[in-house]
Amino acid sequence: MLQNVLDTQKEVLNFEITNIESLEQFRIDFLSKKGKVNLHFEQFKSVPADQKKEFGQKLNILKNLAQDKFSKAQADFTSIKSDLNIDFSLPGDQIPLGSRHPLSIIRNKMIEIFNRIGFTVADGPEIEDDWHVFSALNFPPDHPARDMQDTFFIEKNPDILLRTHTSSVQIRVMESQKPPIRALFPGRVFRNEAISARAHCIFHQVEGLYVDKNVSFADLKQTLLYFAKEMFGKDTQIRLRPSFFPFTEPSAEMDISCSICGGKGCNICKYSGWVEILGCGMVDPNVLESCGIDSKEYSGFAFGMGIERTTMLKYQINDIRLFFENDVRFLKQFTSES
Ligand code: PHE
Repeated sequence: MLQNVLDTQKEVLNFEITNIESLEQFRIDFLSKKGKVNLHFEQFKSVPADQKKEFGQKLNILKNLAQDKFSKAQADFTSIKSDLNIDFSLPGDQIPLGSRHPLSIIRNKMIEIFNRIGFTVADGPEIEDDWHVFSALNFPPDHPARDMQDTFFIEKNPDILLRTHTSSVQIRVMESQKPPIRALFPGRVFRNEAISARAHCIFHQVEGLYVDKNVSFADLKQTLLYFAKEMFGKDTQIRLRPSFFPFTEPSAEMDISCSICGGKGCNICKYSGWVEILGCGMVDPNVLESCGIDSKEYSGFAFGMGIERTTMLKYQINDIRLFFENDVRFLKQFTSES
């Protein structure tokens, strides 16, 4: 009788469960009421007393073996079975669509507005040298104008630095192209400033440059008025205030009538009705000459604006740090149309 138990054990081991049907067959053969395991338990009564111990042990091993094998196979097949129970007529899960970063939306809009009047896009390196960021832009050595922008210098080589403005691309373009030049330079700039709601050590600018024969301040003003109306709405007015930049002469800062309150006064425009959005001016003849352009034949204008500032104004965002935190709850609020 002991041999019968061992034979059944071999059968259990050799039984191949390959699908739901053979799983059920295995259950009937070995684990059901009339299955072999139960049958051996019934035989237990008639086993001679001196063999009961060994028989009982072997029988328990057989029972556990059969049950383990069954449960493992059942787990395998029922999980497959539940996969196959999918209702294919159900609507699919929507794949969430990302959205553009608000800074990209506004940068693209700026590019598009200037594209329409013939400005192309150019690029320059973020790690620059003193010549392109300062010297060629008419910043004299040791002149306090260099302190206007706190610079990150690359250690051990003060000639290499992170550009503090996109005006460096003006130089790169004028060094490599002959007028007429009409180009826009969007890019990232770096300044050694304490981070706050209004200032960051990294931000973005869009720079514009127009060099040709007979370019005048009137051209600059008209171009910027066109931009302001396209960007902030057709009722927008502009105001130019005299200013100073080493690379432009004369220089100005441009305000737009506050697009939030329409000029009546609110906390965005600090109740003045005007918001400053860019610096501009006529390219200084020294700068043209530094790039090998004859300043008697050619003149030009340039302007530069912060993308963050314009974006904050457009969307009424009150903390510049939000742009760099990449919190999806913030980012998903912006759509390309606005
Ligand atoms: N580069 C200046 C700045 O960073 C802006 C500017 C650009 C001014 C071009 C005049 C002409 O503030």
